[in-house]
Amino acid sequence: MARPPTLLFISSDDDPVAWRANLAAAMPGLEMRVWPETGDPAEIDAALVWRHPPGVLRRFPNLKLIVNIGAGVDYVLADPDLPPGVPVARIVDDMLTQAMTQYVVLHVLALHRRMPEIAAAQRAARWRYFHPPAASETRVGLLGLGRLGQDAAAMLARFGFPLRGWSRTPKTLPGIECRAGLDGLPGFLAGCDILVALLPQTPATENLMDAARFAQLPRGAAFVNAGRGRLVVETDLLAALDSGQLRHATLDVFLEEPLPPEHPFWRHPKVTVTPHNAAAADPRGAAEQVAANLRRVLAGQAPFNAVDPARGY
Ligand SMILES: NC(=O)c1ccc[n+]([C@@H]2O[C@H](COP(=O)([O-])OP(=O)(O)OC[C@H]3O[C@@H](n4cnc5c(N)ncnc54)[C@H](OP(=O)(O)O)[C@@H]3O)[C@@H](O)[C@H]2O)c1
Repeated sequence: MARPPTLLFISSDDDPVAWRANLAAAMPGLEMRVWPETGDPAEIDAALVWRHPPGVLRRFPNLKLIVNIGAGVDYVLADPDLPPGVPVARIVDDMLTQAMTQYVVLHVLALHRRMPEIAAAQRAARWRYFHPPAASETRVGLLGLGRLGQDAAAMLARFGFPLRGWSRTPKTLPGIECRAGLDGLPGFLAGCDILVALLPQTPATENLMDAARFAQLPRGAAFVNAGRGRLVVETDLLAALDSGQLRHATLDVFLEEPLPPEHPFWRHPKVTVTPHNAAAADPRGAAEQVAANLRRVLAGQAPFNAVDPARGY
């Protein structure tokens, strides 16, 4: 008798009970095992992972698919001992995309309407009037025009913000002034009153936002990072805030997570910290595509949403 398709779940941040229920509905007969209870390693067909212990995926000689529980695959690709030739897929799902767009709209509107300054004035019982600005006065730039960047841009466009976006390869998108590549970056940054980073972490994007790049923004710009912590040189960001080059930074991702209690971001008056919760893969939205990808690899087909390890995303 043929053995059932078997998936190994490795994550201490995600709920195996919810994934099991949603995967069972999406693929009746699927066997899901939860790390470290792997059973016979030869029976594992696929691994569904978030921050797996490096090296462990080599133990499964019949592994045909690695699925990252999320959109950013930097944790998986950072494993120096990934099994060669096994495709890595990421989760691209409407629930995750909608959550990120909510996050971006929430914080862009808050920055546009000067909520950090108004909240500080409230703490001092001070009536500080800010005239409501027109959306047309605030130029919003997106670093990254992928699945998440484009969806956020489409929603921001409804508010009337002048939009620009930056990507690796050139794009033409309605209503967005698009620039590409490092050559296009200084001109892009010069026109961003609010800059939102939605880039993957790759060797080419690590430390992208350093002192020189913050200096290329208009004085008094605001910065939102919902991509990855390593896109930013944190000491340069603090210096840009302290000098007034930046008026505020809203940060969801950090070099070290959880952000250590002694980190200056926690208490900085110009920093808003959120706990890497802008968007997460939800099994209710994503189990179906994990099952579909498992069916594809079992049938000898390439999975959907596979990442290119050489490119890093
Ligand atoms: N904070 C959170 O909770 C959270 C949740 C989900 C995702 N994220 C982060 O968001 C990132 C983006 O997700 P996504 O689904 O939008 O990814 P995606 O569809 O792969 O898009 C990535 C975008 O970044 C651009 N890019 C990559 N390398 C670049 C480079 N060297 N220079 C310029 N542009 C570059 C790509 O350019 P091309 O279009 O030219 O390829 C593309 O526009 C993820 O990788 C993850 O790190 C964070």
